[in-house]
Amino acid sequence: NKESSSSRGALIVLEGLDRCGKTSQSGRLYKYLDEQGHSVESWRFPDRNTGVGQMISSYLANESQLDDHAIHLLFSANRWEKRSLMEDKLRSGTTLIVDRYSYSGVAFSSAKGLDIGWCKAPEIGLLAPDLVAYLDISPEKAAERGGYGGERYEQLEFQEKVARSYSALCDPSWKVIDATLPVVDIEKKLREVVLDCMMACQKGKPLSQLWP
Ligand code: TMP
Repeated sequence: NKESSSSRGALIVLEGLDRCGKTSQSGRLYKYLDEQGHSVESWRFPDRNTGVGQMISSYLANESQLDDHAIHLLFSANRWEKRSLMEDKLRSGTTLIVDRYSYSGVAFSSAKGLDIGWCKAPEIGLLAPDLVAYLDISPEKAAERGGYGGERYEQLEFQEKVARSYSALCDPSWKVIDATLPVVDIEKKLREVVLDCMMACQKGKPLSQLWP
């Protein structure tokens, strides 16, 4: 059948603190893969274009207030509303580069003191990434980069808590890349791990679900 005869795309997730350089690296990676002739798309969460995404966006801009649990579930719902499209794309051979995913969901909400098991529960059944690349930077270094845009979570003290949450979530399969290296070096390391991962997916690595 079609599914077993054609190779699938890879689900690549980039994670890290605010100002770690994820967004510019996902842009560079997208451009590279696209130019190499791969079928690839660049995604991000929160996806602010949906109705749920607009609620999240207004919360992040401090234009609305929400209970910590409620906003957590909205971030998760925002991933669920894209799940079937995500699966269709992957199965039809498109690689997705995703800027933030369930790990951001759990890291940011558990940094507020919510129970980690409770935070993980609504993510169960979403597609598991084939690769998590963590761009590693200390909260202090990230803050020095400036450009904290004044959104709700862009404060040193909170980012320190998020960094601790990410450490608790990080597992040996994550590719941790030093985000303080020169941009081109990060780009090179990222390409290497991504190309390996895409190859494994082409060779038949099955799609799986959170949490493995
Ligand atoms: P962004 O700056 O990458 O658009 O993300 C907006 C903020 O939302 C960022 O501080 C991380 C946070 N966030 C969560 O708290 N939970 C989530 O599930 C996601 C995807 C992001």
